[in-house]
Amino acid sequence: MSRRKLFGLGAAGVAAAGAGGLATRSLVGEPPAALAVDHVSTPVPFYGEHQAGIVTPAQDRLHFVAFDVVTDKRAELVELLREWTAAAARLTQGREAGASGAAGGPPEAAPDDTGEALDLPASALTLTVGFGPSLFDDRFGLADRRPAALADLPKFPGEHLVPEISGGDICVQACAHDPQVAVHAVRNLARIGFGRVSVRWSQLGFGRTSSTSRAQSTPRNLMGFKDGTNNLKLEDDRLLREHLWARGGDWMAGGTYLVTRKIRMTIETWDRTSLAEQEAIFGRDKRAGAPLGRKAEFDPPDFAAKGPDGKPYIAPDAHIRLAHPSSNGDAHLLRRGYNYVDGSDGLGRLDAGLFFMAYQRDPRTQFVPVQMALAKRDPLNEYIKHVSSGLFACPPGVRDAGDHWGRALF
Ligand code: HEM
Repeated sequence: MSRRKLFGLGAAGVAAAGAGGLATRSLVGEPPAALAVDHVSTPVPFYGEHQAGIVTPAQDRLHFVAFDVVTDKRAELVELLREWTAAAARLTQGREAGASGAAGGPPEAAPDDTGEALDLPASALTLTVGFGPSLFDDRFGLADRRPAALADLPKFPGEHLVPEISGGDICVQACAHDPQVAVHAVRNLARIGFGRVSVRWSQLGFGRTSSTSRAQSTPRNLMGFKDGTNNLKLEDDRLLREHLWARGGDWMAGGTYLVTRKIRMTIETWDRTSLAEQEAIFGRDKRAGAPLGRKAEFDPPDFAAKGPDGKPYIAPDAHIRLAHPSSNGDAHLLRRGYNYVDGSDGLGRLDAGLFFMAYQRDPRTQFVPVQMALAKRDPLNEYIKHVSSGLFACPPGVRDAGDHWGRALF
């Protein structure tokens, strides 16, 4: 029975605050354009060739979790993946985590759903799983199944990674338009996994910082800039085949690789920087999101064009020039990050930034060269610090109820 049918309630929570309007200090001009908020309560199909939650139009909220596997028994791990898949198939359709429903078990047993989403619709919940490099050590006999593309990331200049909030054997990305629905899903997967996995770290995110479909408006990150303009999108069939989905006949065919980076921003310093400098750093205009020297957001950047002062409109080290495919051997990424604010740091500063996530066919030729160029030259580095890192092989989609996450791997 669906959660909505059981309790007969409407779209409570779907109206949760959305993609964030913008009121910036010196950006005078026409009022902010109405943002199309993508609050869809309809369920996203769980079964398919690829996992949902990758090209699915990015939802507003995130709960990302990385688990360590605490059993050393391969059979227990496979059984967990089976149970998780069955629960995910239900949760994403707006049902309870357990097969019998919260009220269906014996009276003395703990309910098989924690209950906090019982009156909420599916809220476009997607659950996307990935396997970290550490899962391929000796414990489960998977060493020879580790894909070459899951090579450890190199050390990047300037990063300050905190091991306790990095890595993990298995990740689950829960995205939904209602944060309670995303948190409920992660909580129930952790509950089901008790004794077999433990939560290593998790991250909440709000206000998606990317569009993954042309039908979506481009949101803004916490630096106030439109983020996700030149991103791989659902409609880019050819580019997705070339740059997103893993190929070949092995267990990863139809899957993809995820890199996560928690990037803290020194917001207070950024807020004291002039508008002209902020725009020069990104190479885009703050209000419209247009490349400097052009008019509209989706005008392609002209990296050769020079202004009246004879200097290029887009600086040689501007973020969009350094990150552009033409500077990185045609490396494209599907970015799917979220803003985060984890309270404050006790020193009067917001603990805030970007939880960056990017999907791609091979991080060695996509994320790594782009990040290396940014780490070495991006003037944005003065305002940001990478504090956590994750790398995961996300297997292809679950085909039907007889299939489960990672079946081909095991
Ligand atoms: C573009 C912000 C980190 C890769 C952009 C844009 C903004 C932005 C405002 C322009 C709009 C767009 O096309 O999306 C940020 C911020 C970051 C950050 C605030 C850190 C806090 C990164 C990282 C990577 C990356 C770590 C990858 C290693 C890209 C790419 C583009 C882009 C590929 C598109 C460039 C193009 O083709 O025009 N970013 N970014 N960014 N960023 Fe970032």
